[in-house]
Amino acid sequence: MKTVMYKLPQDADKAYPAAAKALKNGGLVAFPTETVYGLGGNALDPAASKKIYAAKGRPSDNPLIVHIAEKESLYKLVMEVPEKAKKLMDRFWPGPLTIILKKNDTVPLETTGGLDTVAVRMPDHEVALEMIRACGLPIAAPSANTSGRPSPTKAAHVAEDLAGKIDIILDGGDVGIGVESTIIDLSGEPCILRPGYITKDDLEAVIGPVAIDPALENIQSGRLPAGDFKPKAPGMKYRHYAPKAPLTLVTGSRQEAKKTLLKLLAKAKAEGKRCAVICEFYKDFEGKADVIYALGSRDDTLSISRQIYDVLRDTDRQNVDAIFADDFGLDSDGHFGYAVQNRLMKAAGGKLL
Ligand code: TXA
Ligand code: MG
Repeated sequence: MKTVMYKLPQDADKAYPAAAKALKNGGLVAFPTETVYGLGGNALDPAASKKIYAAKGRPSDNPLIVHIAEKESLYKLVMEVPEKAKKLMDRFWPGPLTIILKKNDTVPLETTGGLDTVAVRMPDHEVALEMIRACGLPIAAPSANTSGRPSPTKAAHVAEDLAGKIDIILDGGDVGIGVESTIIDLSGEPCILRPGYITKDDLEAVIGPVAIDPALENIQSGRLPAGDFKPKAPGMKYRHYAPKAPLTLVTGSRQEAKKTLLKLLAKAKAEGKRCAVICEFYKDFEGKADVIYALGSRDDTLSISRQIYDVLRDTDRQNVDAIFADDFGLDSDGHFGYAVQNRLMKAAGGKLL
């Protein structure tokens, strides 16, 4: 299959009609959102969902998020919309918040990985919204990467993983946030299944107490979910975002982290290893690592989150034997840093020093 790439907004005249046509015919279109790029198909068509799983190489028990362009569209997909969901939609949609509710019969089990609930969100990105409006369908979309690789934050990442396997890529430039949406389950007592840009504090300010899936706390503290201790979002159990070389995550104050990283690098270099470091400032590691990814001050969490998946992808191209990364002090569960830390922790496979 030949994958056609359109640049937005330049190619708008051709891009939206072509995307709408492909989606209505059961095809797949990758598109930008404010979090990461998504791989979209008609959420109401079981065959389209199957194609999404096949293109990504994704296990089919891992449910997809349904994207809509109007808040009202939610009512067509679920049994009922509880008061707390209404409050969160009003406050955060369009935006990086996914809400899980009991699905109705319109949504096929192929889209929800066999679950009787459905995850829905209204993305805050003009290209995503315009594409959904143009086809007039709810769009099932996981992140547009090969399963197990870092989520795509630019169109080139999507092409790297999916060119030749999907119909169209809509290139809307680099995304603004860089990590996936916060997922809150409202099919029972409010519970965060995946941390994201919208934090526990943000959610609690609107609807009161919100729990965090205990499996997440386990990931965060360096114990990956094991045995029958299952995360409630099936996707969180897979070792996502994993670079090829082992990644060691280092925690502590700015000075402590730098000291530990330098020590680890010296040891690995002495063993003849080719090393990469993911750090705040270039000058701290000049001459000490083979590849240096300087992401800037830990005080700017958004800037770090925008760069992190691109950096993880790049490490695979650099043929390094070991990666050492600062955790940027992002460990407080009330803040956005918790989400970035969560992704780094998964990339590290739980290895925290
Ligand atoms: O920011 C995002 O949410 C991006 C963009 C494209 O919108 N999408 C995304 O989708 O991250 P994906 O498929 O990579 O992650 C979806 C996560 C998975 O961990 C999945 O298990 C969980 O959502 N999920 C989806 N439906 C669910 C449900 N009904 N119950 C529990 N977890 C669900
Ligand atoms: Mg994903």
